[in-house]
Amino acid sequence: MISWNPALARRHLRTLHDFSDEEMMQLVDLAIALKARKDAGTRGDLLRRRNIALIFEKGSTRTRNSCVVAAQDEGGCAQYLGGHETHFGHKESVKDSARVLGRLYDDILFRGFKQDTVEQLARWSGVPVWNGLTDESHPTQILADLMTLKQRFGEIRGRKVVYVGDGRNNVANSLMAGCAKAGVNYVNCTPAELLPDPALVARAREIAARNGSTVEVETDPATAVRGADALYTDVWVSMGEEDKTAERIRLLRPYQVNMELCRATGNLGSGLVFLHCLPAFHDDETEVSKDTGALEVTDDVFESGFSAVWDEAENRMHTIKALFVSAIGDPAAG
Ligand code: CP
Ligand code: NVA
Repeated sequence: MISWNPALARRHLRTLHDFSDEEMMQLVDLAIALKARKDAGTRGDLLRRRNIALIFEKGSTRTRNSCVVAAQDEGGCAQYLGGHETHFGHKESVKDSARVLGRLYDDILFRGFKQDTVEQLARWSGVPVWNGLTDESHPTQILADLMTLKQRFGEIRGRKVVYVGDGRNNVANSLMAGCAKAGVNYVNCTPAELLPDPALVARAREIAARNGSTVEVETDPATAVRGADALYTDVWVSMGEEDKTAERIRLLRPYQVNMELCRATGNLGSGLVFLHCLPAFHDDETEVSKDTGALEVTDDVFESGFSAVWDEAENRMHTIKALFVSAIGDPAAG
């Protein structure tokens, strides 16, 4: 029997701050329960007759397909509205499209550029709105990351997660918030040119303090990773920033996650976990990595036994399902 906190009904996820620390971890626990339900072969009706709009301005493999499978598994329907297939945001304002789609759908997941688009959708659609990645944040990713850490470590409070790479991108911002809310010690390791917004760091530090953990920013990789339980990285050039490729490679090459950096944690071979939101550049098998040679992680780390990236990718689906079910699911169908 699946159950969840009724206070989670009809809630937006614009950033992780839309949920209390406890509610965020309740979503992770619900995802773990939903994974067990699926592994046991149950396809239920928790989302029966629920219609979910997926508005995507940027590309996606994991988020898009996680939404489709999560909805289908529980009898719902997720409709992909990509690029210029609708009038959204070009021939029709976000505000007007929000009011139309809110009349038709039970909720909306948005992936795109501006955080303000998520805010406007939430303001005008009248239905729960979830952020599936903007230039500033990627909250659904972090639910999957916390789930993966929980699967590996059990209790995650007091563990140390070190993010190494572009310190001011969407994943780094949300990971910092998520770790602080989960009581995980967080270090953002990045060059001085790519430091996170000080206001976001200050907010995360306040949250971490009430959870007995810390948030640090460090420019030296060897210092940052000492004692890390998990190393996390992301691409050096996020979607929409392609014109910055040469500069990012120059800045971030010393921040590549390789075996030497893993050894510097002191935990290689004794529980160290490698995480990456994906897609990743770890070999020359993609057009971009072949062209630029920009590899944020070496292949031996990416393919190692301590790499948890495939669990992490699968967990995108379970955590997105938890979000759908808790916001618009039918508790009687549990
Ligand atoms: N991690 C992630 O959001 O992947 P996609 O871009 O494939 O959705
Ligand atoms: N920072 C990356 C994350 C992709 C899931 C991007 O925005 O492209």
